[in-house]
Amino acid sequence: MERWNGRVALVTGASAGIGAGLCRALVQHGMVVIGCARSVEKIRAIAEEDAVKAAPGKLVAIKCDISQETEILSLFSEIRQKFGRLDVCINNAGLSHDSPLLTGNTSEWKNMLDVNIMGLCICTQEAVKLMQEKGIDDGQIIHLSSIGGHRLGGMGMFGIHFYCGTKFMVRALTEGLRRELKALNSKIRIASVSPGIVETEFFDRYEKENPSKKAPDMFNSMQALQAKDIADSVLYILSAPQHVEVHDIIVRPYDQPT
Ligand SMILES: NC(=O)c1ccc[n+]([C@@H]2O[C@H](COP(=O)([O-])OP(=O)(O)OC[C@H]3O[C@@H](n4cnc5c(N)ncnc54)[C@H](OP(=O)(O)O)[C@@H]3O)[C@@H](O)[C@H]2O)c1
Repeated sequence: MERWNGRVALVTGASAGIGAGLCRALVQHGMVVIGCARSVEKIRAIAEEDAVKAAPGKLVAIKCDISQETEILSLFSEIRQKFGRLDVCINNAGLSHDSPLLTGNTSEWKNMLDVNIMGLCICTQEAVKLMQEKGIDDGQIIHLSSIGGHRLGGMGMFGIHFYCGTKFMVRALTEGLRRELKALNSKIRIASVSPGIVETEFFDRYEKENPSKKAPDMFNSMQALQAKDIADSVLYILSAPQHVEVHDIIVRPYDQPT
């Protein structure tokens, strides 16, 4: 990880769960981490944690609603102005509404498309543009996909089918970007990580209309992954030597049956 010391990483969806875990891990390796989300105060609170303050890197919070193209463009113009470069872009912001294909509402589907797909693609395009502008040819893009991008989610969660569709698309986008970068002879690498169940706020958001069905029920029935387990996969991707391009890592809890 030495080569990333002092270099700049963007983590979207940094206010909670996996994104927060990524920020905590990357600052320990000396990276200047720009964490963005809507709840910017939560990222500022992470930056104030003792372990983060004592780390060789630093965490800077920027407010951004990833479902809004104009906000993403201002985020990148702030990154250009204040940091002058970007070396790593981790497209982590993502969510699922409980919105089945037969009964779900279209505004929830659009929101999932805007965050999980459009936001990810716009951030990627802007990140690669900035890397190219600054001559950073060993940059890394990482998409947070899901085991739900490889097979439909089990456990009777019909409301998660549209979300799985977005994550299947992330798989196609990962390979598409790889081919476009190769066509440019670029050494910028693209990887995705596809977690199984991780103990975060994800399921509370999914069950927001049905708070009696609490996520902890699920976490009591198995030992779920923790954000740190996903951060470890990301560190593995970043540590790979230049001739190795990690394409997709599926990480499941040992106890996850499907
Ligand atoms: N947890 C799991 O079991 C699991 C499994 C497989 C894949 N994943 C994927 O992992 C990624 C992170 O999920 P998580 O489990 O860490 O969920 P989480 O705890 O709910 O965190 C989601 C993050 O995304 C951000 N976000 C949501 N909508 C946003 C928007 N419009 N603009 C900016 N940020 C937005 C949230 O920030 P604000 O609300 O502050 O904006 C938050 O920081 C997602 O892509 C998810 O699909 C999770």
